[in-house]
Amino acid sequence: MNSDATGADPVERLTVTLRVNGRNHTLDLDAHLSLLDMLREQLNLTGTKQSCDHGQCGACTVLVDGRRILSCLTLAVMYEGASITTIEGLSGEGEALHPVQRAFLEEDAYQCGYCTPGQIMAAVGLLGEGIPADKAAIREGMSGNLCRCGAYDHIVAAVGRAAGEGRS
Ligand code: FES
Ligand code: FES
Repeated sequence: MNSDATGADPVERLTVTLRVNGRNHTLDLDAHLSLLDMLREQLNLTGTKQSCDHGQCGACTVLVDGRRILSCLTLAVMYEGASITTIEGLSGEGEALHPVQRAFLEEDAYQCGYCTPGQIMAAVGLLGEGIPADKAAIREGMSGNLCRCGAYDHIVAAVGRAAGEGRS
């Protein structure tokens, strides 16, 4: 990449079509834009939260082709052709809540709620990987998602409840 007259590298831009929550969006993006910033700033999907921005808290968790990823650690332009799901895409307006969302409500699995979208998306991804055998497996599977309010016992109960529904 060439530097401009100021010595700074010019911003490389790419046009990509990204599928988010079942809709295609063709966007002209800075190639260095994170998936998290794209979702929040370009598509106004602010349910995905920014906290550490360094891959350490899980607040920015979304699903790509059903697998959970940390959207702060990856570039938006890498996901052309993939299917991205955010918390807004789990259940549409007027539709029933996703079972994991319902389980979080029923188990009171949040306090301030800031970590909750990431927790829910991580839980959906975890259950997609297989039903955890027990609470220890849920804690291990959810260990990348921090909760400053310390709602962990309720979060584990919610994931367990959703896992139980998945079994039946
Ligand atoms: Fe992405 Fe913390 S904001 S892991
Ligand atoms: Fe407040 Fe988790 S509910 S950070």
